[in-house]
Parts: sequence; structure tokens; C-alpha cells
Amino acid sequence: MSLTHGAAAIDADAWVQQELAAVEAALQAWVPQDAPAGLGQAMRYGVLDGGKRLRPLLALASCQAVAGDRHAALRAAVAVELIHAYSLVHDDMPCMDNDVLRRGKPTVHVKYGQAQAMLAGDAMQALAFEVLTPDDGMSAELQARLTALLARSAGHAGMAGGQAIDLASIGHSLDEDALRNMHRRKTGALLQASVMMGAACGHTSASTRAALADYGAAVGLAFQVVDDILDVTQSAATLGKTAGKDLHHNKPTFVTVLGLQAARQHARELLQDAHGALQRSGLGDAAGLLAMLADKVVERES
Ligand code: IPE
Ligand code: IPE
Ligand code: MG
Ligand code: MG
Ligand code: MG
Repeated sequence: MSLTHGAAAIDADAWVQQELAAVEAALQAWVPQDAPAGLGQAMRYGVLDGGKRLRPLLALASCQAVAGDRHAALRAAVAVELIHAYSLVHDDMPCMDNDVLRRGKPTVHVKYGQAQAMLAGDAMQALAFEVLTPDDGMSAELQARLTALLARSAGHAGMAGGQAIDLASIGHSLDEDALRNMHRRKTGALLQASVMMGAACGHTSASTRAALADYGAAVGLAFQVVDDILDVTQSAATLGKTAGKDLHHNKPTFVTVLGLQAARQHARELLQDAHGALQRSGLGDAAGLLAMLADKVVERES
């Protein structure tokens, strides 16, 4: 797929391949081999060699859209993926979703034990903030901005808070607003932060930032709506994780609350919202990669 970016045409597929390779190399370099007592192996197992790397791609595409500092955005991309990978390791533990399969492999706690899985997640979270606070000339202001965006999206107001609602909702029915609130926090916040961190690596007007925040919110919510749909429509082989588990755990999802067809329709509406936000952003053709990633989120099969 070819996208017009200013005067230059960008091959979107080639861009994705190139950035996936860059993210993988950066993660390889950052996640330690030599942490004590096997902790590094558990961390590397949970982070490397798997995952769609959607959050890093959003951060890098957003930086590209605002002609920002790619070096800083690559740090943001690594940091957000580390938080995401930690959230998956903990999400799969027996005290949470009790899952045995992730990214096509046994989960971290199945392979290394629960204590090591908990510590690997803890260490990934700390490493994310180490990555964002380098001594390499990145301005203190940008470091603080990126750190605040990531911390807020990962903590009680974002992912961790959403996960708490998720566990408290088992066996209960939620209305659509409550479900949306849970999904926005547990999944949407980190995806939106990916977009905003990328944008923070460049100079943007307040109105462009507001439009990008709307784009990130729409894509973030759409992502979890689609995750709920895939849980009931795809196989474990396709997903690389257990299928049908939301029903099994009696969790309210967009499929149980709206039904499959309406959930699909809702994802399509959110995709329109995302595209509408990009149109309002004033970024024009420069937002092409972000538009392509929004499509990917909604059209994906795993
Ligand atoms: C899965 O996220 C967990 C949710 C937030 C729904 P992804 O589907 O992005 O998982 P990976 O990173 O590709 O494994
Ligand atoms: C997980 O949501 C969201 C996280 C913060 C990790 P799910 O529990 O639905 O994610 P999967 O389906 O296990 O990947
Ligand atoms: Mg969960
Ligand atoms: Mg889960
Ligand atoms: Mg799920």
C-alpha cells in the first residue's frame, strides 16, 4: 500500500516491516539476559519474539505524522511495549485470567512459575521508565512528558484500574457505558498513550493534539471491542491465546452486552470516529500511517 506523505510516497507495508525490525532490535538490546536468578530469561520470554507490536507502531506513526524525533519515539515505543508485555504476563496469572497460552507459547507463569512471572512483570514495568529517562541528550521536558503519559495510562486511572474493574465484573452484567469505561481504561488508555507519546516527540498545536487524543481513544476502544469479538470468533491457533475464555470466565464483553453483529457495527463506527479525528487533526497526508493502523486494528483476525 502506497501513502502520500507530503511530497514523498511511503510504502506502508515496507514502513511497517522496517519499524517492526527496529522495535524488535531495540527490545532485544534493552531486555537483559543477565538479570539475577533467571529473571532475565523470564523477562525476555515474555517480551521478545511475539506480539503484533501495535503500540510501538502507533507511537512511531504518530511521531512520523508530526515530523518528530524518531530516536525519542523509538524509546517511547519500547517503553509502551514493555508495559503492555508486563500487563499480559500478570493478566495471564492464575489470580487473574488463569491462561496457559500467550503469543503461541505457554504463558510466563506456566514456564517459569508464578513468583518469577510476577517479578518479570514488575521488572518490565520499571525498565519501561528507565528507557524513558536516558542520559543521552533527550530533553528533561520530553522525558517528563513521556513519563507522565505512560505512568498515567498504566496506573490506577488506566490499565491497572481497568483490570481491577474487569476482575470485579466477573459474573455481573454491565451496561454499555460501564463496559466502555472498563475497556477505555484497561486497554484504550495504553493505546491512546502510544499515540500521544509519539506526538510528544514533535511540535504540535493544541488542536492537533486534541484530535490525536480523539483518534487514540477511538482506536483504543475499538481494539478491545475487536479483542472481545475475536475471543468468540477465532481459534486458539489463529489467536496464539486461548479462545472462548471470556464466556468461560463469565466476563461481560461487547459481545455479551451488544451481541456479535452490533459489536462489529460498533467497531466500524469507532473506526469512522478515528478517521474523522485524523481529518480534524490538520495533519493531512502525514496522518496516512495512523489511518492505515486504525484500519488494521479493526480488520485484524488475531
Ligand atoms: C492483547 O493485546 C491484550 C489486550 C489488551 C486486549 P494484543 O492483541 O496487542 O497482544 P499482542 O501484543 O499482539 O500479543
Ligand atoms: C487484557 O484484556 C487487557 C490487559 C490489560 C492485558 P484481556 O484479558 O481480554 O486480554 P487477553 O484476551 O487475555 O489478551
Ligand atoms: Mg484480562
Ligand atoms: Mg486475559
Ligand atoms: Mg481478551
